[in-house]
Amino acid sequence: MTAPSAATGKGTMVRIARDIVERAGVDVPALIAALTDAARAELSDFYRYGVLAAHPLAGMDGPLRQIVQDVRTEDRHHFDALAARICELEGRLPDDLFGFVRPAPPPSAADPVAELLVAERRAIETYTRLCERTAGRDHRTHDLVRALLNEELEHRAWFAEYAGIDSGAEPRFRAGFRGRSPYLPRTGPEPSA
Ligand SMILES: [Fe+2]
Ligand SMILES: [Fe+2]
Repeated sequence: MTAPSAATGKGTMVRIARDIVERAGVDVPALIAALTDAARAELSDFYRYGVLAAHPLAGMDGPLRQIVQDVRTEDRHHFDALAARICELEGRLPDDLFGFVRPAPPPSAADPVAELLVAERRAIETYTRLCERTAGRDHRTHDLVRALLNEELEHRAWFAEYAGIDSGAEPRFRAGFRGRSPYLPRTGPEPSA
């Protein structure tokens, strides 16, 4: 339990946030664990995509590299948003970064797009499950994970459009649009670029 801060009252606010969710019948420790797993994946992808975008021999041309950089920026926003919600629910991310992230090896140069599409599909599955888990019970977390799901669907659409594959979603290649997390500002603080 978080002790209220006399100066800010923040502890009380956290307690209230968790109480609301618990009273709605949500298993809060299990929800925090699932959000923590999602945060780990976002942070790992942020690192992995950074290595990929920087590597001159990663088998990527300029347009694909730009998509990877835009996705990486949004994944950082995703991690920040998840971390904020975990803290609101009285969760705490591990202090030890090395024990927390487990970056997968960068996609192979042979077919980086195929591997990137697999990673996006995995993220879509994660947020679909979190949407189902929170629907009708934890509205704030639900709004967050639905926003994240929408952005992951777009990530897949961007890579699919690049590869000439129909992803079933509307890709958005307008200049200056990707990487700005268009869904997240509605559920939390404006993400920085
Ligand atoms: Fe993400
Ligand atoms: Fe993604």
